[in-house]
Amino acid sequence: MIFGAILAGGVGSRMSISDMPKQFLNLGDKPIIIHTLEKFLLCERMEHIYIGVHPNWLLHMEDLIDKYVKIRKDCIHVVAGGEDRNSTIMNIVDAIEGRFGESDEHYIVTHDSVRPFVTSRILEDNIDAALKYDACDTVTGAIDTIVVSEDGKVITDIPNRAIMYQGQTPQSFKITLLKKLYNDLSEDEKKILTDACKICVVRNVPVHLVDGEISNMKITTVSDYKIAQAMVGGKVID
Ligand code: CTP
Repeated sequence: MIFGAILAGGVGSRMSISDMPKQFLNLGDKPIIIHTLEKFLLCERMEHIYIGVHPNWLLHMEDLIDKYVKIRKDCIHVVAGGEDRNSTIMNIVDAIEGRFGESDEHYIVTHDSVRPFVTSRILEDNIDAALKYDACDTVTGAIDTIVVSEDGKVITDIPNRAIMYQGQTPQSFKITLLKKLYNDLSEDEKKILTDACKICVVRNVPVHLVDGEISNMKITTVSDYKIAQAMVGGKVID
């Protein structure tokens, strides 16, 4: 089975506009997370969609689903997020296995709730790549030159841009593989390795690349939020 996992356990501390986590702010006529959820609902290969939400916002999420979702409501499951992004993924994995059992045939498409412009093509390509390669990441080729500075003051290196990519999400995995790699990490490694693909990379497990889109942006700061509002023709709040 293929499961969607929308990660919404964060509080959006870099978005100073509101006390509400950024995934619940309106983009045009509906919250950011509803835009994201709607993209997942359109992908029928995902039989169930899990949303990992910060524990203080579980009821709010349920209310939003009631208010905005008109299709496939029965396939949506809201679970409590964890202390960091990977813990939120693992809470979702536990919920999936609690309900559907452990299986080598289970795959998960994990996605930031705050990337509402993910496309059906990206989701479908993730599913195909996860089924074929067991682990994949969505990336775009670097457009700007990447500059490395170890002390934040002077340039240490300027790597060849042709082999530089920027990571987006979805990141998709065979669940048994991801769980095994995560459970093998020490507590210290768990604190550092907050990106699910990095868990594979440090253990030399190949992660296949899927083409992203520049429009599949992550809303992190107020400027990103303004750009996203402009993209949907919504009101830009100062
Ligand atoms: N996320 C999560 N569980 C956490 C932390 C983050 O599911 N414990 C999710 C966020 O809700 C977001 C995605 O991971 O959809 C990407 O993280 P980021 O943009 O860093 O979100 P926040 O952690 O909310 O933002 P900030 O770092 O500014 O606090």
